[in-house]
Amino acid sequence: MSNITLALAKGRTADSTIHLLKKIGIQFQDFHEDTRKLVFLSEDASIKLIFVKAVDVPTYVEKGAADIGIAGKDNILESQADVYELLDLKIGQCKFVVAGRAGDFPPSKQRLTVASKYPNITEQHFQKKGLDVETVKLNGSVELAPLIGLADVIVDIVETGNTLKENGLEVFEDVENISTRLIVNKASFATKSNDIQLFIKRLTVGLEEEY
Ligand code: PRP
Ligand code: MG
Repeated sequence: MSNITLALAKGRTADSTIHLLKKIGIQFQDFHEDTRKLVFLSEDASIKLIFVKAVDVPTYVEKGAADIGIAGKDNILESQADVYELLDLKIGQCKFVVAGRAGDFPPSKQRLTVASKYPNITEQHFQKKGLDVETVKLNGSVELAPLIGLADVIVDIVETGNTLKENGLEVFEDVENISTRLIVNKASFATKSNDIQLFIKRLTVGLEEEY
């Protein structure tokens, strides 16, 4: 019987996370990049892994469907889920920025329109600055919005900067650093304390060797 259910975010960082888990002796034999399978049991049977959409990881953990989750800080922040964030896995390092058309900041407008996949993060950021903005929620290709007049600026993730550059946009402001984090359900942290602490300890040692 597995003791811990771990929700892992599908997508770019999944492979690096599986690699890190393997390094600390937790292996999922039938896991591969293009798998259509969604539930895996570790070879030592200690961990049941569920493979979910990145944006849903905080929900699974907050609701207790998973005891722990591994997901990007972007999705954790946006979800506003009531969970413990206990470890930075330093995978998928990038940042949230405010960006817009090169040379066009601050746009000469009273009330900015901001396009983003992350409306909560966007609103919080501008609220902190005391600015009232109109947020337009998009689901991708956000860089398009300032180019065709849908928004004045965007709040989005920058990794290499290539997407901004290729679309004639530039960073106006840094918002927050992002990387993959370990989150824990609050009740599980109490009821499965030993198992979870041990898992975190093993991960911490694995990370120290990695970096
Ligand atoms: C992400 C992000 C940026 C881009 C950043 O988009 O939203 O657009 O990657 O990477 P870069 O700085 O290395 O260019 P993604 O490819 O996930 O597509 P989407 O926004 O359309 O979902
Ligand atoms: Mg994008």
